[in-house]
Amino acid sequence: MEDTPLLVGAYDVPYHITVIREYAMKIMRHIKKLARFLFGDYSIYYVYANDAVNEAPPLAAGFRFALVERDDISGSDNQIIADQAWYHGCGAHAYACLEGTRIVGLCFFWYGERYHERNFWPLADREAKLVQLITLPEMRGHGIASALIKYATQDMTRRGFSRVYARIWHSNTPSLRAFARAGWKRVATVIELNPFNLSSPHRITLGHHAARPGT
Ligand SMILES: CC(C)(COP(=O)(O)OP(=O)(O)OC[C@H]1O[C@@H](n2cnc3c(N)ncnc32)[C@H](O)[C@@H]1OP(=O)(O)O)[C@@H](O)C(=O)NCCC(=O)NCCS
Repeated sequence: MEDTPLLVGAYDVPYHITVIREYAMKIMRHIKKLARFLFGDYSIYYVYANDAVNEAPPLAAGFRFALVERDDISGSDNQIIADQAWYHGCGAHAYACLEGTRIVGLCFFWYGERYHERNFWPLADREAKLVQLITLPEMRGHGIASALIKYATQDMTRRGFSRVYARIWHSNTPSLRAFARAGWKRVATVIELNPFNLSSPHRITLGHHAARPGT
């Protein structure tokens, strides 16, 4: 029997191929439904770390980096920047990328008790976690985040922190690229599953820190 050609755009797709594709898509939809039922919501994060940065950070013309106070952030004319102020306070350090006096990028580290409340990745003494990183939307793609991470890491090292961590959503390509460009390395992958949507999520930690106590 001859295949009945079905015209799709510029291609003639044989009828049986179209039927097979439709069946495959149906099966995939059922598999996804079943997986969602069995595993519930999921999250996949990469954990990045940096021990020390000794080289000077590159500074694009017109930009500078600085340790900033809560008021510098909350007083910004830009609402996106002002909204970040709550990340500051006791147990936090904030670093900004400034163009003149305007804050265009920010990152925050938490340590000690402040981070303990969150505790996604338990920290040892003299360790801190970068809990927020943001570049203003209109300033993205110019290397601000990468340079800010480098500057901030270097300053944290100077302040006596021996290791700093960050948690990055697995598909956040700009963030993954920014950390990699700043010299940070991936040290673990953390997968959280919530089977049958029952109680607290089940955590799987892959990587050389998998044996860390408390993780
Ligand atoms: C993540 C974020 C801070 C990056 O800021 P940025 O100043 O644009 O970063 P950089 O300019 O240093 O770029 C980092 C890398 O991402 C790439 N990149 C930028 N935008 C991208 C996009 N939309 N898609 C893919 N890659 C992108 C850049 O090309 C660069 O890669 P390269 O080193 O290969 O050239 C910014 O996108 C942001 O504020 N996002 C919202 C908040 C967020 O996700 N924070 C991170 C939480 S962990």
